[in-house]
Amino acid sequence: MPRRNNGRIYFLTPGGPPSRSGLPGRILLAAGLLWAGIVVPATAGQDAQKRGKYLFDAAGCLGCHTKKGGKPLAGGRRLTTPFGDYYSPNITSHPELGIGAWTEPDLKRALRQGIAPDGSHYFPVFPYPSYTGITDTDIADLWAYLKTIPAIAQANRPHDTKPPFDVRIFMVAWKALNFEVGPFKPDPNLSQQVNRGAYLVDAIGHCGECHTPRNAVGGLQRERRLSGNPDGPEGEIVPNITPDRETGIGRWSEGDLDSLFRMGMTPDGDFVGGSMTEVVENATGRLGESDLRAMMAYLRALPPIRHKVESKKKGS
Ligand code: HEC
Ligand code: HEC
Repeated sequence: MPRRNNGRIYFLTPGGPPSRSGLPGRILLAAGLLWAGIVVPATAGQDAQKRGKYLFDAAGCLGCHTKKGGKPLAGGRRLTTPFGDYYSPNITSHPELGIGAWTEPDLKRALRQGIAPDGSHYFPVFPYPSYTGITDTDIADLWAYLKTIPAIAQANRPHDTKPPFDVRIFMVAWKALNFEVGPFKPDPNLSQQVNRGAYLVDAIGHCGECHTPRNAVGGLQRERRLSGNPDGPEGEIVPNITPDRETGIGRWSEGDLDSLFRMGMTPDGDFVGGSMTEVVENATGRLGESDLRAMMAYLRALPPIRHKVESKKKGS
């Protein structure tokens, strides 16, 4: 299969996450800029915000928390599930209507444990069963970025779901059966690259929230991880992305995956549709080179699972 990545895609790719360690380079750069008389070295706070923005994109926070045509992160986006319609909340820094009164530990508890500042439990339509894997340092960076989001006064819309999926206390039982608290732990038997990929796919990218089949109460079937979901969000059919040659992406080359993640182009020259469009635009298309490679290395190292999910598209 020819590689389809022509020069254009590199143009679409940002440089990758700002590094935590590139200090000597930064000092040289800063010295250069000072010499040129232009400026102001970046502070540690700004670096955290930049890393936070990168993670925020990779984790797809924007799409879910923004209504079509609405103000960024002010919430109100309808999320249709087999259990009814949920509406995402306002996560701008508005003190009453958003999360302006939150602290970093509040954000950590929400992402890691699915628990709100008042102690109530979130519904798993907020993908904390995946985000629980996000590390403490990455949560700190996300928080640094979230604090910069301007306040927008927009009230949250109540969910419209069926019992018991409208009762927060029911989530205690749900979590006992379907939730394993993080953070992500690297597997010492796997390479550093594959572990980074696992972190990006399973925790940050929460790919399994759509690509893994669910049980009757909406819990992810971990033993069938990423093998496709006939009943995805918005009623979509979500394909098998394990390396099975017949029913998954086992025949895709590295170049095929690269084109998909950067541009949304499939090996037959078509473009991915549905909610994957947004994933490519907001998340995978913005990943740095080494993270993209890591993600692909992990997907290719997964155990292949034979699971045919009917595709809406012809010929895939
Ligand atoms: C798949 C859609 C989806 C994605 C992706 C998503 N969220 Fe949410 N989020 C929700 C929904 C829905 C809720 C409300 C859950 C509930 O009512 O129990 C929520 C709740 C929250 C809350 C709690 C707000 C409150 O007022 O209690 C915060 C904070 C939050 N999300 C932050 C984030 C961040 C940060 C990201 C990215 C790392 C993210 N979300 C990604 C759907 C999403
Ligand atoms: C919000 C749901 C959602 C999320 C999250 C999601 N995907 Fe997808 N993905 C889809 C859907 C739906 C399709 C099918 C699109 C189509 O039919 O055009 C798809 C298609 C794909 C394909 C093409 C497979 C094929 O056979 O055509 C790959 C590869 C893929 N996704 C990988 C990923 C990875 C890696 C992640 C995490 C970074 C991810 N997806 C996150 C919904 C999602």
